[in-house]
Amino acid sequence: MPVFDFKGAPADKTRAVLTYTVFSSDASEASPDQPILILNNSTHQWPHHAHGIFTNPSHRTSFEFDGENGIESADILKIDARFVSLLKWLGANRIPVRLSGENREGGYAVYRIREKAFGGGSKLSAEDGFLQYMIERLFSSPAPKNTEENQDAEISGDDMKITSIQTITDFLTCAGSTLPENIQVWARRNLAVAKSAEVSPEEKRHAQRALSTMLNIRWKSNYFDSIDPAEARRILDEELYGMEKVKQRVIETIIQINRTHTLPAYGILLAGPAGTGKSQIAYAVARILKLPWTTLDMSSINDPEQLTGSSRVYSNAKPGIIMEAFAAAGESNLVFIINELDKASAGKGSGNPADVLLTLLDNLGFTDNYMECMIPTGGVYPIATANDKSKISAPLMSRFAVIDIPDYTPEEKKVIFSRFALPKILRRMRMREEECILTPEALDAVIGRYRDTTGIRDLEQAAEHIAANALYQIETGHKTQVIYDAEMIHQLL
Ligand SMILES: Nc1ncnc2c1ncn2[C@@H]1O[C@H](COP(=O)(O)OP(=O)(O)O)[C@@H](O)[C@H]1O
Ligand SMILES: [Mg+2]
Repeated sequence: MPVFDFKGAPADKTRAVLTYTVFSSDASEASPDQPILILNNSTHQWPHHAHGIFTNPSHRTSFEFDGENGIESADILKIDARFVSLLKWLGANRIPVRLSGENREGGYAVYRIREKAFGGGSKLSAEDGFLQYMIERLFSSPAPKNTEENQDAEISGDDMKITSIQTITDFLTCAGSTLPENIQVWARRNLAVAKSAEVSPEEKRHAQRALSTMLNIRWKSNYFDSIDPAEARRILDEELYGMEKVKQRVIETIIQINRTHTLPAYGILLAGPAGTGKSQIAYAVARILKLPWTTLDMSSINDPEQLTGSSRVYSNAKPGIIMEAFAAAGESNLVFIINELDKASAGKGSGNPADVLLTLLDNLGFTDNYMECMIPTGGVYPIATANDKSKISAPLMSRFAVIDIPDYTPEEKKVIFSRFALPKILRRMRMREEECILTPEALDAVIGRYRDTTGIRDLEQAAEHIAANALYQIETGHKTQVIYDAEMIHQLL
């Protein structure tokens, strides 16, 4: 039944008739129970698969079925708020579609919309792929807060890419409102530049590239689902021995996220000697948070412009690696692993590259010189590693919760070598553990050999060396097992 019943207004053709109410949903996929929209079926039970078009929304919001007896029309009764613009667009462009739906008491519940490729006359930028991509993006977005004018989406991880001007235009029409507001404004301005006849080809190219980069990022809500602390602990223990203090801290962070459903205001800085598992912890945290991660290696950055991008006035201009990292992650929620924060050095550019990170870390948004747009950074979780805290500026330090990681004792190194490093190498070399055995004295000899180095990296190399030697002996000497004693280790390493 129509929501707006223009009684006594006989066929006022200039007035659009809105037949539906919107409902708010966060469902991530559609089913007959959670449909995209509901059509009136009070006069007619519609088939499971139905063909037709959405009516031009400037007349009436309904669907025209291609029935056996010609066109039969049914009003839209309800729509998931996220899909309002998409249906308007399908209607305005008269795009033939196939619906999948089920007749229910309250109406025909449509849970799938596909484009019907009609004799090449397709309007869609990438035909059905684009429509499915758009629908997927809409489903991955939270329900819009302001249900009337505002609906939709986020990007999804298939190989659909928004690059051509046509795709960009269609995307902005159908899912533009899924973007943060300042990015919507920015995108319209850049699209105007990209289409303008009055700017140089260079400028147009830059605008198109910037749009493509930006629109391929899913702008997710900063709401974080709860994380199972027991599962998190399992992941940490599986990859790393000991490190109780760090693990405790990670679990505390998770409990905090479960309570607030947002990321903590501070990232973490892991400080300690080389090879003590700092990077490994950072990757484990990304896995636990179920976020894509990206690494910034500060030791290879000597110019702030590498991070911030270069202004479009230069012909070889490009976005900075922070922006590229968002693009590579494909979404706005990600873990930034900033390796060797203490190694950033000031180069030819002005200023210290590390200080550029301040804006990224402040949660106030990051501005890339090429994009000329402020990127929200509320979904960024930074984890930095450093060997020498004293080389990090005070403002930068104050942005992190600092966790000191001590070197391992010889006893700990023994456990890590025999329970983590060696088994890991053997697995990688497809060897069974009994094929390569070290006596207790041999183990002492390995640890003693690397007494003067920090961390586990040398021990991992030793494990690889030993395993490779064992494999050689097994393959060439027809042995089934090699047992190393201290003497053999001394000769080998
Ligand atoms: N506590 C640990 N348990 C198991 N393996 C470890 C541990 N600490 C370090 N490693 C291993 O040592 C190697 C070096 O660790 P990494 O995280 O790269 O060190 P860092 O970043 O501190 O220099 C990795 O392969 C890692 O798996
Ligand atoms: Mg490291």
